[in-house]
Amino acid sequence: MATIPDETIEQVLAATDIVELIGSYVELKRAGSTFKALCPFHNEKTPSFNINPARQSFHCFGCGAGGDAISFVREYENLTFTDTVKKLADKAGISITEAAYDPKAEKMRKRQSRLKDFHNRFAKFMHTELWNNPAAQHARDYLKERQFTPEMTQDWLIGWMPEQAKPCYEWAKSEGFLGRDLVESGVAALRDEHNPKQGLYLRFRDRLMFPIHNDYGDIIAFSGRQLREDPRSGKYINSPQTVLFNKSKVIFGLHKARRDIAKAGFALVCEGQIDVIACATHGITNAVAGLGTAFTEHHATLLRRYTKYVTLCFDSDGAGVKAAQKAYEILIPAGLMVKAVSMPPGEDPDSYIQQYGAEAFQNLIAQASDFFNWKIDYEATQRDFSDYQQRSALANELSDLVSLIPDKVAQDGAVLQIATRLTVGDNEIRGAVQEATTQRKRKNFQTKSSDHDDSPAPPPLTPLDHHIAYLCFLALHSQSAQNYLVDQLESLFEPLEYSTGGHILAHILAKCPNPESPAARQTYLLSLKDPDKLALQASFPEDIPAQPAAAAEDTMTILLGSHLQKKETALRTKMRNPSLQPEQVMAIMQEVQEIQLLLRNMGQRFIR
Ligand code: GTP
Ligand code: MN
Repeated sequence: MATIPDETIEQVLAATDIVELIGSYVELKRAGSTFKALCPFHNEKTPSFNINPARQSFHCFGCGAGGDAISFVREYENLTFTDTVKKLADKAGISITEAAYDPKAEKMRKRQSRLKDFHNRFAKFMHTELWNNPAAQHARDYLKERQFTPEMTQDWLIGWMPEQAKPCYEWAKSEGFLGRDLVESGVAALRDEHNPKQGLYLRFRDRLMFPIHNDYGDIIAFSGRQLREDPRSGKYINSPQTVLFNKSKVIFGLHKARRDIAKAGFALVCEGQIDVIACATHGITNAVAGLGTAFTEHHATLLRRYTKYVTLCFDSDGAGVKAAQKAYEILIPAGLMVKAVSMPPGEDPDSYIQQYGAEAFQNLIAQASDFFNWKIDYEATQRDFSDYQQRSALANELSDLVSLIPDKVAQDGAVLQIATRLTVGDNEIRGAVQEATTQRKRKNFQTKSSDHDDSPAPPPLTPLDHHIAYLCFLALHSQSAQNYLVDQLESLFEPLEYSTGGHILAHILAKCPNPESPAARQTYLLSLKDPDKLALQASFPEDIPAQPAAAAEDTMTILLGSHLQKKETALRTKMRNPSLQPEQVMAIMQEVQEIQLLLRNMGQRFIR
């Protein structure tokens, strides 16, 4: 394993001001030439934690914790030494020596830093638009209606994204950014990947924009909420994956909540970002949320840095319980303890606080029960518990979840809990838990032994035009979209031949795997060559639109339009050839006119 050279460590320490650093985690008070704070490493009411700027060190007279900037971050964030140094180096803009010799990594770091700058400034631009643009009145009204105060809006740097690309483009230019920055940040995309002259379209339009931060507090992405209902796209849209942002690695609100999570001793995990904001505004400052996607191991590891305890605050309907269970399945193996809050049906933290007040919500959180109790409460409303067969079936299902608990004592606690509540024998449950554990071990062993130890280079992906990718997605997930596209095969034939990745869509439309059956889709995907399969999977958006056939039609129109335009350009180039006979020129002219007519007719179907 590579070690970090001493000079680098010295350089990192020299570039880090311990007062500023610790001040970003806990509140400091000046005391003469030193600073004081409540110790983040033990519970206390009067500050005995001291920071000495001259020596760049800290010491707690209460618990004896002490050291330099690196030991503080290491202890606070529960990181390894190497990761701590890397984190501080990154913050100070220092390349770790091994990375410094890698021009590729250096280039990537520059790109990332430019994009971070872009995001931070773009967020401010959208924030100003929200307050100043006359066209954003409905956005301001909406915030008012949802009880957002100007301070909250300021605090979370909420903004408004205009409908048109032009003001964004002009702003970017005036700030020294390029169209490329807009595209790389995911704020905009090229209309036509092969022809940048076609211009850009905005990913977010007329949306309320919530900045998404990394845990150092830099803005790295956005989540945009619809202001006007439009079934053609989701209520929320996130930035796509970029060199800065991977939604499965980011937790909304963590940059603000992490200290208070450590202090409160647990993280309150909500479903929505508005819930997080509502909680924070009302003094519940340890709340965070995912980004509308399932919890991942990365999320669990991130939370585990700050606490061992998670309290889930999900909807009490079927979907909420399912999501909570999925989160449990990820959090528990990562060594976290999971509780859940019982929310009244139809309420989320935001609506609950508005209706009953923050204190009532605090009480609800305080009454959170352990995950199994909560789950059994829900199941009691779904099954007939007077029937022992239904109770024992549930006990069996729960055994699977119990087997995920790594701590044997906690595992047995869950067994006893379930046995008592369902009046089922605890030994029987233990047996089922044992069985589930064995099954999992067998499965893990099988997948591990089929892996290669030396991790191979990632397989190449087939390049895929994003309109084609979307059509593939629709054809694989919706019967009506598939039917529509099969009907259109004749007019698709030529554009598919000339579009990047068109052969994949042609193949899907030839095979027509049943979109209603996930198993059929899986079988179909498995039959593809790896690069095709991976390209498809990587491009799949999260949501199926409400009207898939209409979405297919719109996308196909764009695809045909850009194909016809390309064809027209090619014909015009051809026409300039001086060696052409007059009849040939005439023939080409006629073809151009036909294309123009088609484009004009199609223009009426474009939605702008
Ligand atoms: P509001 O209606 O604004 O209060 O949002 P909510 O948080 O109450 O909504 P909901 O419970 O429907 O969604 C919870 C979270 O899931 C949101 O905060 C988003 O992060 C995410 N989400 C909701 N709808 C979508 C969607 O259509 N696409 C994606 N990607 N995420 C969504
Ligand atoms: Mn809500």
